[in-house]
Amino acid sequence: MSTSEPSATREAVLEMSPEQFRDAGHRVVDLVADFLATIRDRPVTTGETPLEIRRHLQADRELPETGSEPRALLEEAAELLFNHSLFNNHPRFWGFITSSASPLGTLGDLLAAAVNPNCGAWVLSPMASEIEAQTVRWIATLLGYPASCGGLLVSGGNQANFVCFLAARQAKAGWDVRSAGFGPAAPSLRVYSSKETHTWIQKAADLFGLGTDSVRWIPTDRRQRMRVDALRDAIAADRARGDRPFLVVGTAGSVSTGAIDPLLELSELCQKEDLWFHVDGAYGGFAAALPDAPADLKALTLADSVAIDPHKWLYAPLEAGCALVRDPERLRAAFSYHPDYYHFGIAATNYVDYGPQNSRGFRALKVWLALRHAGRQGYVQMISDDIRLANELAEAVRVCEGLELKTKDLSIVTFRYVPPDLADQAAVEAYLNDLNREVLTRLQQRGEYFLSNAVLDDQFLLRACIVNFRTTSADVQAAPGTVVRYGKEVDQELRPAELRRSLTAT
Ligand SMILES: Cc1ncc(COP(=O)(O)O)c(C=O)c1O
Repeated sequence: MSTSEPSATREAVLEMSPEQFRDAGHRVVDLVADFLATIRDRPVTTGETPLEIRRHLQADRELPETGSEPRALLEEAAELLFNHSLFNNHPRFWGFITSSASPLGTLGDLLAAAVNPNCGAWVLSPMASEIEAQTVRWIATLLGYPASCGGLLVSGGNQANFVCFLAARQAKAGWDVRSAGFGPAAPSLRVYSSKETHTWIQKAADLFGLGTDSVRWIPTDRRQRMRVDALRDAIAADRARGDRPFLVVGTAGSVSTGAIDPLLELSELCQKEDLWFHVDGAYGGFAAALPDAPADLKALTLADSVAIDPHKWLYAPLEAGCALVRDPERLRAAFSYHPDYYHFGIAATNYVDYGPQNSRGFRALKVWLALRHAGRQGYVQMISDDIRLANELAEAVRVCEGLELKTKDLSIVTFRYVPPDLADQAAVEAYLNDLNREVLTRLQQRGEYFLSNAVLDDQFLLRACIVNFRTTSADVQAAPGTVVRYGKEVDQELRPAELRRSLTAT
C-alpha cells in the first residue's frame, strides 16, 4: 500500500500558466490587429506556387519529438499565414462567394474555443445552446421566416442544404427511408432544380441514396431563372412514368449570376402538387431583409425549408451555415436517435436531434455577436452597400471600352474582355474564352484583384461578387481599367495568327 498522499497537481505540457496565456494571447491579438490594419496595403494573394508555400512551411520537417514555446509558435504561425495567404478580408477580393469576416467574429471564435461547449446536447452547453437557439430565431426573423421554425448552425451552405434535403426526403418519400432505405421496389424519388443550382444538389442526391439521375435539371429563362412551365411539365411526365416527385429546390441568388428563381410561383406549384419546397438562399437569402427586396426573394418565407449562410452575407468567419425548417418536428423526424448511452436529464433542445453531427462546436457565437454588433439596420446597410457597389461596377464595366457586361443580379457582375477590333466577329468565341480564362488566371495570381468565373451560353466570363464590407467605390472604379490592362497583355501574347491582322491594324 502506498503511503504517499495523492497528488493534487499534474504536469501536463499543454497546460499554460495564466501569465503565459495572457502574454501569448496579447501578442496574437496585437499581430491580428496590425494585420487587419494593413490588409489594404497587401496584395490580395501572393500567388506563390504549392512548392514555394511548402518551402516556407518546411513541409518536409518531421513531427517534433518535444514541444516548443507557445508565444514563439504563434508568432511563426502568424508570419506564415499573413505573408503566404489569400485574403478574402481584402477589399479587392471578389471571388466565389466568400465574404470579408467580421473582426468581432474572430474574437468570438476565441471565446467559443475557450469555453469549448459541446453543442450536441443542452446539458453540455447550456448557455451556448440557448445562444444558438436565439441566433437561429434572429436569422429567421431577419428573413421574415417564421420564428417558430426549427434550425441549427452547420458548417456551410452544402451542409445546410443537406439537412433540409434529408428533412424533405423523410417527410415526402411516402415510406420510412431512414429504416427501410431504398429497396428494389422503392419508387424512384425525383428532385427538381434549375440548371443553375449549386452543385450541392448532386452531392445530396449522390450521398443520400437517390443517385444524381434523380435530379431533374429544369431549364432557365434569359435571366437564369427556373422556368415554371418546364417544371410543371417535368413533374407531370415523372408522375405519368410512375416516379415519385418529392422536392422542388428554388434558388435565392444563384452561385454564378445571383439569379432569383420565381419563388412565389414555385411555392404555389408545390402546394398544389404536395411537394416539399426548399429554397437555397445560401448566398442571396439575407438580401430578403432589405425593405426593397424583390417580391420573389421575399417569397422564400413560404418555403418548407431554407438554407442560408452566415459565412456569406452575414460576414461571419468561416464556418457558419444555417438550416431552417418551418416545422421543427420534421427535423427531429429526419435525424433523431436515442442510443442507450445518451441520458440527458433535462427537457431542452439537444441539437444532436436536429442534424447529422453529434459533437458540435459553438459556431453560433460569432454570428450572434455580429448580429448584435451591427443590428438589423447595420446589416441592411452593409448588404445594400454591396449591391450598390455591384451596380456601380456593372455601370463602370458597361462604359469601359474593351469590356462586355453580361449580367448583374444582387451583388454579382459578370463580364468579359473583348478586344475592340474583335467585338463584332462571330468566329472568335473560342479565342475569347481562352483569352478570358488566361486573364482570370493572371488576375488570380498577381494579387491586384481576385475574381472568379461563370460560364453562360458557352462563354467564359469574369465574375465579381461583392460580399465585402471593406470594398469602396474607388476599388470598384479602378477594376475595369485593371482588367483591360490584363486583357491587352494577354491578347498580345495569345492571339492566333488568323486573327492577328486586326491586332496589328489597331
Ligand atoms: C447558392 C449556393 N448554395 C450553396 C453553396 C455552398 O455553400 P458552402 O460553400 O458554404 O458549402 C453556395 C456557395 O457558394 C452557393 O452559392
